[in-house]
Amino acid sequence: MVKIGILGVGTVGASVARILEENADIIEARAGKRILVKSGVVKNLSKDRGLSIKLSDNPLDVVDDPEIDIVVELMGGIEEPYMLVKRALENGKAVVTANKALLAYHRYELQSIAGDIPLMYEASTAGGIPIIGALRNGLSANHIESIQGIMNGTCNYMLTKMINEGAQYDAILKVAQELGYAEADPTFDVGGFDASHKLLILASIAYGIDAKPEDILIEGIQNITQTDVAFAKEFGYEIKQLGIAKKVGEGVELRVHATMVPADSMIAKVDGVMNAVTVVGDRVGETMYYGPGAGGDATASAVIADIIDIVRGNQGPMLGYKKGLESGLKLLPKEDIITQYYLRLEVDDQSGVLAAITATLGKFDISIEAMLQKPTKNDDIAKLLFTTHHCKESKMQDAITALGKLDVVHGSIAMIRIEK
Ligand code: HSE
Repeated sequence: MVKIGILGVGTVGASVARILEENADIIEARAGKRILVKSGVVKNLSKDRGLSIKLSDNPLDVVDDPEIDIVVELMGGIEEPYMLVKRALENGKAVVTANKALLAYHRYELQSIAGDIPLMYEASTAGGIPIIGALRNGLSANHIESIQGIMNGTCNYMLTKMINEGAQYDAILKVAQELGYAEADPTFDVGGFDASHKLLILASIAYGIDAKPEDILIEGIQNITQTDVAFAKEFGYEIKQLGIAKKVGEGVELRVHATMVPADSMIAKVDGVMNAVTVVGDRVGETMYYGPGAGGDATASAVIADIIDIVRGNQGPMLGYKKGLESGLKLLPKEDIITQYYLRLEVDDQSGVLAAITATLGKFDISIEAMLQKPTKNDDIAKLLFTTHHCKESKMQDAITALGKLDVVHGSIAMIRIEK
């Protein structure tokens, strides 16, 4: 018999307890032992959760309980779960966590504290999709060339509705919140932070990169408008919020942002709240993983898979490396990213304006790939929409600043990166 304690019995924790009970026979057959939830920790003991497990409001009742073999951390937050996971590991207990923020900040410290004690985290990234296992085990013979993923269901749901149904940003965010997709603070989703945590976890397994969210490029979907959606359609793109990790020479780009992707690509077809991750390995080629990135049972499915793995004795270093890489890859500075760009700006609709704009782009060696002009409600103002050939991020940022200073340009300039 293996005994589990759950820190944070919310939607996912309740699903873990229920699935362990309802699927007990198949789980025991696969793990080789019966797995029982001994106790759980909640903030509010007076709320009825319809569960038969013993509940406490003191996390130490689980973390210090000598009978508990595996601590499942589902509480969210960063510093409190860090202290508790550390203490559980120091007490010799295996840990399973779904906490992406905890791992985005403390994964390397936790790996070193854990040593040979299992610390698993399949549910932290893309919910029910077994992407951690795929990268850590299934693809471990490969140099990873790139990872591209839709890692936030809220953003994908909102963008899908904006593209397919012409929904407006604010209205559809409200619906996403009502449906329970968004985090408590939706900035976390729409601002790209949730996806950045997941990307950093994947990048550690793929490249051994120890970066924090503040080290990488993170942008949200807040500035996407129906004009951008219409342009994307006209030029054969879909707009997706992607987490991207890419090996470039001896460096690795890590970035999260709205991205125009070819409308006929597989990732473009991932709609609604679903997540998908494409991984390109140097030997296997392109592989893709698709499924629910959130939800009680889907996330619990990943948590329990980790528990079964621990009970079976399948161990290995937390982030997948038994020893350091001699030729370690470095995180590339954000300014050195090279990609294609889409720009939207509002300008005076008069002669010479286009020439001034293209001359400014030319000054920064930026070459235009395609262009469209659209009228606005104001006869004197037009919208200019461009895509560019590849250029360096730093040059694009300087060009945007220079364009913004031109008298003929009004308001802020919107930019979306393109990945083909
Ligand atoms: N808020 C997240 C999402 C849930 O929308 O994908 C899972 O991390």
